[in-house]
Amino acid sequence: MERTFLAIKPDGVQRGLVGEIIRRFETKGFTLVGLKFLKVSRELAQQHYDVHRERPFFAGLVEFITSSPVVAMVWEGDGVVASARKIIGATNPLTSEPGTIRGDFGINIGRNLIHGSDAPETAQKEIALWFKDEELVNWQPHLTPWLH
Ligand code: TYD
Repeated sequence: MERTFLAIKPDGVQRGLVGEIIRRFETKGFTLVGLKFLKVSRELAQQHYDVHRERPFFAGLVEFITSSPVVAMVWEGDGVVASARKIIGATNPLTSEPGTIRGDFGINIGRNLIHGSDAPETAQKEIALWFKDEELVNWQPHLTPWLH
């Protein structure tokens, strides 16, 4: 079953949006298989955003992600990677569609509330970087199949 890595960034936590953000993935019908609350180390932040190492915003991004705690999560479901990206919205909240998390709650590209893996291969790498195998729970909810 497909999995994705999501992280509610420091601004989402500081603004009290943790419940609201998690609710959107729960009610969509995806399954939570990993969850932790942590202060991110510099090393983890730099590894996570390694593809952006040469970009002008890299230093500020690492500074921000390590500034205060985040909620790291793994969600499971068919097509969850692409669907979560749609639920999250485009990178710049100012132009993200209303109805998306970023479109509903943000205005600043450097404070866009949540990270979501951009492809299944990236998701696998990010899950391995943030979670140990034993921190992920293999389970399935006993729900009516037409909801999933
Ligand atoms: P990116 O991977 O392009 O976006 P996304 O999070 O939508 O996959 O960029 C990673 C993060 O870097 C992005 O969420 C916010 C930050 N960022 C900036 O601060 N300024 C920028 O110009 C860009 C492109 C990204």
